[in-house]
Amino acid sequence: MSKQEQIVRMFDSIAKKYDFVNRVLTFGIDKKWREKAVKKTLELIDKKDVKILDVACGTGDMIEIWKKEANKKDINIKICGLDPSVGMLEVAKKRFPEVKFYKAYATDIPCESKTIDGISISFGIRNVLEIKKAICEFKRVLKKDGIVLVLEFTKAEKPNKFRECVDFYSNKILPKIGGILSKNKEAYEYLPNSIENFYTPNELAALFIECGFNIEKLETFNFGQVTMLIARS
Ligand SMILES: C[S@@+](CC[C@H](N)C(=O)[O-])C[C@H]1O[C@@H](n2cnc3c(N)ncnc32)[C@H](O)[C@@H]1O
Repeated sequence: MSKQEQIVRMFDSIAKKYDFVNRVLTFGIDKKWREKAVKKTLELIDKKDVKILDVACGTGDMIEIWKKEANKKDINIKICGLDPSVGMLEVAKKRFPEVKFYKAYATDIPCESKTIDGISISFGIRNVLEIKKAICEFKRVLKKDGIVLVLEFTKAEKPNKFRECVDFYSNKILPKIGGILSKNKEAYEYLPNSIENFYTPNELAALFIECGFNIEKLETFNFGQVTMLIARS
């Protein structure tokens, strides 16, 4: 089995408990970041009818936020989700029976070219091993001037005391609690390891620039632990 398939299998194995464990581990603060990011992305798309694709949708947390924020602004939204994990998709389909979901990888999106106004990928791009291929695929399916929104855990740009405290929680405490609650120790040890092997905010932005995007917004939350990157095609 390839490394990418192993990652997806791991999500399959924690899918049923994913939402519960996530809420406990993040104390729900991720919801604020998601809301802020979606709000800004809708402003940048600036249309009354939008077609959105949530890549690495998991159990559908971003889909809920997209619908809520679009509704607040009277925007007519058509949203689809995409994820390679059958387990995560099963949960998402139960939550949103009206939404169309694709079982697919970010590197191989089953949509026509230049048909999507906005793509979101939250806490997902770190799991995509062929990241540049995925970013090029985003570029292909987005309409001209389309927007991609990334929320992701990133490495620190430079050492910082506050960030060390946040990292202590993520590296030492979170894997233990997550392991106990999910009964899957390996899955929650994967999180800090994958952040350590990922990019800094500026390195991530550079990848989007290389693939032909313009950066509209690059901001971090939680003392630099979480990056919000918004780029225009
Ligand atoms: C941490 S979950 C995030 C789910 C959701 N976006 C959220 O914010 O809660 C990561 C998701 O990435 C998916 N994933 C892993 N590898 C992927 C790939 N190559 N392409 C697309 N999604 C992938 C997993 O199946 C999983 O559902």
